[in-house]
Amino acid sequence: MDKSRLPRHVAVIMDGNGRWAGLRGKERVYGHHEGAESVRACSEYAVETGIEYLSFFAFSEENWKRPEAEVTELMHLMAVSILNERPTFRKNNIRFVVIGNRSRLSDALNRDIDLAMEETSGNTGLTLVVFLSYSGKWDIEQAALKFAAAGAPAGRFGDYLATAGIPDPDLLIRTSGEQRISNFMLWQCAYTEFYFTDVLWPDFRKTEFRKALEEYASRERRFGKTGEQVTIETNGSK
Ligand code: IPE
Ligand code: IPE
Ligand code: MG
Repeated sequence: MDKSRLPRHVAVIMDGNGRWAGLRGKERVYGHHEGAESVRACSEYAVETGIEYLSFFAFSEENWKRPEAEVTELMHLMAVSILNERPTFRKNNIRFVVIGNRSRLSDALNRDIDLAMEETSGNTGLTLVVFLSYSGKWDIEQAALKFAAAGAPAGRFGDYLATAGIPDPDLLIRTSGEQRISNFMLWQCAYTEFYFTDVLWPDFRKTEFRKALEEYASRERRFGKTGEQVTIETNGSK
């Protein structure tokens, strides 16, 4: 892997847990548990390769509309995962961050999140971001309110988004064959490269992650310029 062509920030829309379980004649929740193992595997791989930011869309604002039993199970899985991963965060120097409309989460879960965030805030390795009860439109709305209250300082809108301080994603991966953004980071993905795969999230482990990174490395990002301009800049001459 050419390190100079590694994305700085990879974001993932983890999709297909329910279908993965269904194919095996199991309950959806079984797929969510296997999906949590993929989060672990991909985080490990990100640490190994030196990716700086890895974001996971774990639960959208719209996901609150799912059957209550599934929502409860997902929230429980989140709490358990945070508890279980704390030693790994320590060992791997991972900074753990949760972003989303946290007013909708239980007090107990919020306490677990705060604890893990405080405990890892000084870590300098991978920043692992979990988007929980998040939606891109919610983020833009809450940012707009704060931005207006601050007197709308020119060119600073991004500082009011929930992702302030985190660079925009370079690569967005979505599993399970769906090709949509489902209200994820709408503002932040303005120039993100998209990678779609039919692989279901519980099957997306290191080999699949590596494939996505290799595909990203082969792409040319232009940011509105011509291909020729980009080639000259990449080769270091003007
Ligand atoms: C992704 O898998 C996990 C969450 C959205 C919480 P799904 O639960 O959406 O699985 P499918 O799409 O029904 O297969
Ligand atoms: C997107 O998956 C949200 C998360 C991965 C948390 P969904 O499965 O909820 O998306 P839609 O509803 O199919 O677009
Ligand atoms: Mg889905």
